[in-house]
Amino acid sequence: MCGIVGYTGEASATPILVEGLTRMEYRGYDSAGVAVEQDGGIQVVTRKGKVAELAHTLGHFEMTGTCGIGHTRWATHGKPSEANAHPHTSCAGDIAVVHNGIIENFAELREDLIARGHVFKSETDTEVVAHLVEEAFHRMLADGSGDLRAAVAEATSQLVGAYGLAVMAEQEPGTIVVCRKDSPIVVGRGNGGSYVASDIIAMIDATRDVVVLADGQMARLRPDAIEYFDTDGNPIEPEVTHVDWDIDVAEKGGYPDFMLKEIHEQPRVIRDTLAGRLSAGSLVIDELDMTAEELNLVDRVYVIACGTSYHAGLIAKNLIESWARIPCEVEVASEFRYRNPIITPTTLVVAVSQSGETADTLAAIRDARVKGAKVFGITNVVGSPVARESDGVIYTKANKEIAVASTKSFLGQVVSLTLLAMLLGQSQGELTGGQVKLLFSELADTAEQVERILAECTDSVDEAAEAMVDAASALFIGRGMGAATSYEGALKMKEISYLHAEAYAAGEMKHGPIALIDEGFPVVAIATNSAVYDKVVSNLQESRARGACIIAVATEGDEDIKKHADHVIYVPKVRDAFSPITASVPLQLLSRAVAVKRGCDVDQPRNLAKSVTVE
Ligand code: F6R
Repeated sequence: MCGIVGYTGEASATPILVEGLTRMEYRGYDSAGVAVEQDGGIQVVTRKGKVAELAHTLGHFEMTGTCGIGHTRWATHGKPSEANAHPHTSCAGDIAVVHNGIIENFAELREDLIARGHVFKSETDTEVVAHLVEEAFHRMLADGSGDLRAAVAEATSQLVGAYGLAVMAEQEPGTIVVCRKDSPIVVGRGNGGSYVASDIIAMIDATRDVVVLADGQMARLRPDAIEYFDTDGNPIEPEVTHVDWDIDVAEKGGYPDFMLKEIHEQPRVIRDTLAGRLSAGSLVIDELDMTAEELNLVDRVYVIACGTSYHAGLIAKNLIESWARIPCEVEVASEFRYRNPIITPTTLVVAVSQSGETADTLAAIRDARVKGAKVFGITNVVGSPVARESDGVIYTKANKEIAVASTKSFLGQVVSLTLLAMLLGQSQGELTGGQVKLLFSELADTAEQVERILAECTDSVDEAAEAMVDAASALFIGRGMGAATSYEGALKMKEISYLHAEAYAAGEMKHGPIALIDEGFPVVAIATNSAVYDKVVSNLQESRARGACIIAVATEGDEDIKKHADHVIYVPKVRDAFSPITASVPLQLLSRAVAVKRGCDVDQPRNLAKSVTVE
């Protein structure tokens, strides 16, 4: 998530904006900028890199204006650069805009605006907003039919997607208009001025009484007051929230740790990763830079990755093979690079890496390309080595992940790989347009389903965590998609709680692991609805008969499972293909709950690093 700040008041705006941007920078950003009223116009300064670089540059300017907006960007559309950094301005430079979120229909809007004579300066989706506001505002100024607020309302009515916006215009000095849809905006009065930010942390020194705008609401900030409006432009009196968090808690958005915050961001990650991907019944993944004919020729897929990203690959294998009917192998990158895998010009290698800089994955990419494969990267970091060295790239839109253990980036990878599997299915002629549309719509529904899991499963997760907190070891089992999910569940458990956990395909239990089971031994079973549900239940029973404490992740409405499990965590019903998305979430929460109960530092587990840049 990028960061927005704004201030209008008695004091010089620039230092306040820089302070707010710095406060939000703990999440890591790649460019920043401010727009400040100056000498009757708007002066914009942007810099690639950290806020400190922007602050240093601003030291060379005389910016004394008392109204301004600022932004820190974590690139999702367009590389990190000064041109792509916000604020973005209109053609005349009299309007400046900062934006969080994704404008899904920006390509069409941009084309229409260019046809009407607008000239664009950046590759971002945001710039269309500046031009749309300009058109509406200039017309309203000419015929006296409205003001900046009305112009912003008219512009946003044309947007599809998510946005938190702050807009200023030189014709309305001292005014900032803000609005939101699916992206946070908080507003407050304090220290002789009016403040806006996308995150309370940016303004916590000025005020602790804030209004959290609801979707569709707008606010107009002036130096001495803030006015609020509903979706129809009628004035409203919104509810004021008092925040008494300390700075540390505020950075985590009120959550006790980053891991929990990031787990809760997952519905947004799903929505952002899918935004703009379906158009007229077809999948749009232009970044892959491969024609439908080239995709049709693919006859072998390797997914290469490490750790959690490798587990996302295990899930993808099932989808690629069942939807596209192409053989797919998933390999740990450190093995792949030293083997002599069978690669031909029709082999597709998919390299998955959150950080985009894992040494083994990069080496495997180079090796695969030398051998003639086409390589797709799936990464969370725009411009990272994996992105640069692959032939095409899909970005996962998880935004910066701070907790060492991957959660939201894993879900972003699974969703991206699911899209890729659908695309391959479509281009191989195995999936019809209608099937793709249906799958896409069910995939999109998982955002809401994950929201529900997050809201409803706290108690059952806590109960299950209590049952395993003192265990020395645990097994995670499942079949099919459930097996793939259980590998990630076990990794999460061991890496943050130090409780030794292993995953097995449930059918393998009686070939060895079942010897471990004695009284109270925890077995976490993925028992969601699927063609192999009954088989999983049989495997649970075998473990339970030997004294295991069974924790089952099951589908809502499955009352029968209670006969076979000591603890049940329910997830909403989804098709089996999407069960890793829903079933992984309680497993993330379970590992965190166990870690917290065991007194572990969940965000920074011992011996681990977020990026593994050595072999
Ligand atoms: C576990 C975890 C690691 C990473 C692995 C690969 O929670 O985060 O297992 O998945 O180190 O890292 P990336 O995805 O950055 O290549």
